[in-house]
Amino acid sequence: MKILMVCLGNICRSPMAEGILRRRAQQAGLMITTDSAGTSSNHVGQAPDHRATQTMRAYGIDITDLRARQFTASDLDHFDRIFAMDSSNLEDIRELAVNDPQIKKVSLLMDLVPSGPARNVPDPYYGGQEGFDQVFRMLDQACTVLVEQLRDRG
Ligand code: 4NP
Repeated sequence: MKILMVCLGNICRSPMAEGILRRRAQQAGLMITTDSAGTSSNHVGQAPDHRATQTMRAYGIDITDLRARQFTASDLDHFDRIFAMDSSNLEDIRELAVNDPQIKKVSLLMDLVPSGPARNVPDPYYGGQEGFDQVFRMLDQACTVLVEQLRDRG
């Protein structure tokens, strides 16, 4: 099972999501491949934003090894599930899809938490530390559901 997290810059939300999923899967003894990408090319090659790295470190998760890359059409074939952080990312990904199997792989990450109030993970880039903490809590909730689903499938 190969899972890709996608946001705009691949320096805040999606590397955090990748780091959380990687850790939660490891804790559950689940063997999966995780990756993340951005729909824009603006931050390609960069390490995660220092506020994202710090927030993750506060929760005991190290994401300093991750580097930003841009989402490509071939990701739609390579990955089994592709999770967009917000509806704008979702649209950009869907525009690159060329067939039904590809379309079916793509969804909003927060749709994993149907009782939750938000469909979009808010972009924390222009805000303060509080935004990163909120993003962490949302991502952790969704990744916990995802790991449970993957475990149930065996
Ligand atoms: P991300 O956050 O999509 O969660 O990585 C952003 C990072 C950079 C920018 C916007 C969002 N930017 O405009 O540079």
